Amino acid sequence: MSDQYVVFGNPIGHSKSPLIHRLFAEQTGETLEYTTSLAPLDDFTAFAKAFFQHGRGANVTVPFKEQAFRLADKLTERAQRAGAVNTLIKQPDGSILGDNTDGAGLVRDLTVNHGVTLKGKRILVLGAGGAVRGALELLLAERPEVIVIANRTVEKAEQLAKEFSDLGLVFPSGFDWLEEPVDIIINATSASLSGELPPISSSLIQPGKTFCYDMMYGNEPTAFCRWAADHQAGQAVDGLGMLVEQAAEAFFQWRGVRPESAPVLAQLRRLLAQQ
Ligand code: ATR
Repeated sequence: MSDQYVVFGNPIGHSKSPLIHRLFAEQTGETLEYTTSLAPLDDFTAFAKAFFQHGRGANVTVPFKEQAFRLADKLTERAQRAGAVNTLIKQPDGSILGDNTDGAGLVRDLTVNHGVTLKGKRILVLGAGGAVRGALELLLAERPEVIVIANRTVEKAEQLAKEFSDLGLVFPSGFDWLEEPVDIIINATSASLSGELPPISSSLIQPGKTFCYDMMYGNEPTAFCRWAADHQAGQAVDGLGMLVEQAAEAFFQWRGVRPESAPVLAQLRRLLAQQ
């Protein structure tokens, strides 16, 4: 039987992870099986442990990332910081290592796929939920000048800024406190899911310069990307590349082989356009 991998989630039906990992496996010649797994909302831990009787690794998505963090026997440093786990890896001794590849996926998409330099830049992050917590350590490791975290609930931005202040300059903010243009805006609010936008000033965009990134993606430009383009952002891109890159990083952790993400990303983009 080939090595077994799953993505746990609830709901999980529309996950693109099986396709991504099948393409990675074909490309690298690795023999593995990767399927979706609808985990029960009330008993994730027992369900996941049963899988690991035979399974080699798992991805974890909404709403189980914090439970996966608690289930893991050991954690990578970046998972520890993130307070959430999106990748579980069975170790040779049978224990389960918890990792978080979301931040690495974001930074790789920004720096490699989009050629953005983060060093010395003023970055504005919109949102202060799990997605931001997962990304901050990796973003700060690139040595930006400053990261401002703006959130509807300012206390959550304050909490995150405090927790990550040992790694660089991080300030909390409300959405409507900001006016000066920034170099990079990253939207990590779930507002995009319902086509909403955080109420931020368009003066934050320096026309032709500011790079705008939405962690969300869809078969057409997201509300945030449309807003950015309408205000002449230097570029407005969505988070499909982050999805592929966090998967590539998980694949690397499981198999020790780093797949090439560009052809997989191109194929996903074509599929999305057909939907
Ligand atoms: P995720 O794991 O995707 O980060 P989360 O932890 O639930 O999800 O966080 C959602 C984020 O989107 C939060 O920053 C939330 O703001 P609050 O902390 O004030 O709740 C933000 N968010 C959700 N809906 C929003 C909306 N309509 N406008 C602005 N921000 C919104």
